[in-house]
Amino acid sequence: MDFESYIRDIEDFPKPGIVFKDITPLLKDPKALHKACNVLCEMVGDQKVDKVVGVDSRGFIFAPLIASKLNAGFVPVRKKGKLPYSTVSESYKLEYGEDIVEIHTDAILKGEKVVVHDDVLATGGTASAVCKLVEKLGGEVIQCNFLIQLTFLNGSDKLNEYRIKSLLQY
Ligand code: PRP
Ligand code: MG
Repeated sequence: MDFESYIRDIEDFPKPGIVFKDITPLLKDPKALHKACNVLCEMVGDQKVDKVVGVDSRGFIFAPLIASKLNAGFVPVRKKGKLPYSTVSESYKLEYGEDIVEIHTDAILKGEKVVVHDDVLATGGTASAVCKLVEKLGGEVIQCNFLIQLTFLNGSDKLNEYRIKSLLQY
């Protein structure tokens, strides 16, 4: 399937100079949605997976679908202050300033095999912080799985200790 034809470029969003990859045309098409989910799962292969971690907020679209299809559990990583139970945190750099992501302390057990999913890999700051959270709980990141990888931003450099897979590369 030509997934690229379902991704819409929006210029100057959310800020001037940024070209936003809008995945909503793909999401609203039943066949494209189904097929994208299948391919994201195929990217994981036959490895045993205990948990699929999805990243707040756009990672929450596919991560639970992938988890369900792989017979794994879904775990949300959220931006600071959103999770109700006890958490561990990790900060990461933004263009200006920093942000913090959190995970529940009981979300992953020691030794569990974890797939980290997000919609987009850009600079890699977010995904690398999420991988650190998984490891703080004793989980093993077996793959970082993305719908879209913006290769020109070199996010894979920050994730060089992990296996990275993406459905579309720009
Ligand atoms: C976007 C995107 C990824 C992240 C990638 O999320 O959904 O999570 O940026 O960027 P990075 O590789 O440079 O860290 P954003 O923080 O804009 O929030 P959202 O998912 O809530 O829209
Ligand atoms: Mg995001």
